Amino acid sequence: MAKNVLVVGGAGYIGSHCVRQLILSGHRPVIVDNLSFGHRQAVPAEAPFHNCDLGDTEAMRAIMENERIDLVMHFAAFAYVGESVENPLKYYFNNLVATLNLLKVMVETGVRQFVFSSTCATYGIPASLPITEDMPQHPINPYGQTKLDVENALKALAHAHGLSSASFRYFNAAGAAEDGSLGEDHNPETHLIPLVFQAALGQRDHISIFGTDYETPDGTCLRDYIHVDDLSRAHIAVFDKLETPGSTYFYNLGTGTPASVREVIDTVEKVCGKKVPVVEEGRRAGDPPALYADSGKAKRELGWELQYPDLEPIIETAWRWHRDHPSGYAK
Ligand code: UFG
Repeated sequence: MAKNVLVVGGAGYIGSHCVRQLILSGHRPVIVDNLSFGHRQAVPAEAPFHNCDLGDTEAMRAIMENERIDLVMHFAAFAYVGESVENPLKYYFNNLVATLNLLKVMVETGVRQFVFSSTCATYGIPASLPITEDMPQHPINPYGQTKLDVENALKALAHAHGLSSASFRYFNAAGAAEDGSLGEDHNPETHLIPLVFQAALGQRDHISIFGTDYETPDGTCLRDYIHVDDLSRAHIAVFDKLETPGSTYFYNLGTGTPASVREVIDTVEKVCGKKVPVVEEGRRAGDPPALYADSGKAKRELGWELQYPDLEPIIETAWRWHRDHPSGYAK
């Protein structure tokens, strides 16, 4: 059955891709975004849009009621790990307090289904790989901690108020919409793949490799890059599960295939046919050597399948976006 879905942070990278998938699946997304990081151009013309801050509980309550919301997806968060170490209060207020405000409005207005963007950063440095959902969660920075705090609040709200939720622990979101309509545009940009494209396009002198002495096959960090459309489809595949009141789910979302920083750079060079200048630097503080997912639980329980299991096609979609939008949405 089609749902009215409030997408908080729906003008951002992952949120906007989810909005697109919701429309393709016949649902009705309603977007809330204060455009501090989101892009108005990423919001489709047919979707209702509210330029509203999560902290404005009165406005959020009105939107929840007037738009007859059935389910909330929440993507609005700060996501710079280093910044969260420097300025933890910013992360506790925006990622934890603002989310609790949102959940309070949901409880008060009777909206009982919630999909949350969590992160592999909740695991900290994993004891073994690949990471499964039942492994201990010991985040090593405030960003991961605030996401874990929300996960725990969701368990309490399930028990007390019958709230049903799914928390998706993302690995490294990457790529761009297949039809070229949406892509990755962060300011500042800190993520590896867009930075390598900027170096390939001559927008920056080089790409820095942060650490070449890790205990990994080529000495650089291993990560699990998953296509943003594959991530998005899981958010919709979980809808049936959320019909059961008071149910709480946690799923890893990754491809399960690790790629090193060097492999990412090599693949970008291959895809765009340009040489990327590289400078080897020291390790970046707080980077675990290797993070990759066992996403078997999401596959088994949600019938979710990867449409982009390999890195190269993911990078091809990203390349089309960066080539056609060298200045992002501002073009
Ligand atoms: N890297 C470089 N050079 C750069 C940028 C990144 O070598 O200029 C390396 C990083 O050291 C890391 C890999 O590329 O090994 C990926 O880095 P990203 O910054 O793209 O992504 P992260 O793995 O650090 O971060 C992602 C999400 C975060 C999440 C984190 C969990 O973007 O939201 O995983 O560890 F918190």
